Amino acid sequence: MKKITAIYPGSFDPPTNGHLDLIARGSKIFANLIVAILRNPEKAPLFSLEERRRMLETLTESFKNVRVDTFDGLTVQYAAEVKANAVLRGIRAISDYEYELQMALMNRKLQPDLETVFMMPAEQFSYISSKLVREVVQLGAPVKDLVPELVEQRLREKLDPAIKLQNARQPKARKQA
Ligand code: PNS
Repeated sequence: MKKITAIYPGSFDPPTNGHLDLIARGSKIFANLIVAILRNPEKAPLFSLEERRRMLETLTESFKNVRVDTFDGLTVQYAAEVKANAVLRGIRAISDYEYELQMALMNRKLQPDLETVFMMPAEQFSYISSKLVREVVQLGAPVKDLVPELVEQRLREKLDPAIKLQNARQPKARKQA
């Protein structure tokens, strides 16, 4: 069988247990898997590109056929640059389907030889998204079981001043109530 190199493109802001689950699954079926972090100038990310890259490198170091990279521009162009034949994407629930279908068909239009392969993360991760993790942690709730320990720690470090400020305000608000 042909040896397939796949890219797994995404924002990974931050990487979640769902992403890691998909990377583990992808590394089993592809010869090589490149986790490709999009450099998106339109979004103001919580973690810089370098921070995300470093976290993902540490989190994937046990997978010998996985490497982490960053890219900008079109996914299909990046795939051609690294000679990838497939794009890996995760589908958690039916709500993901429409957006993913659109992207897959657009990528196919742009590059008919590049196949998109969808995989489903384990069901315990099916409700986890980076966006919700950011929201939950910014509002001061724990994100244990949602993200790897390393990411939990980095989130705490990043948001500590905000959490401290929030905690400092809380007793006052209670007094007023
Ligand atoms: O983790 P995300 O934010 O859902 O990932 C989205 C991503 C990076 C896969 C998507 O935005 C993307 O492919 N961007 C690159 C630009 C591009 O190729 N656009 C045309 C295809 S839709």
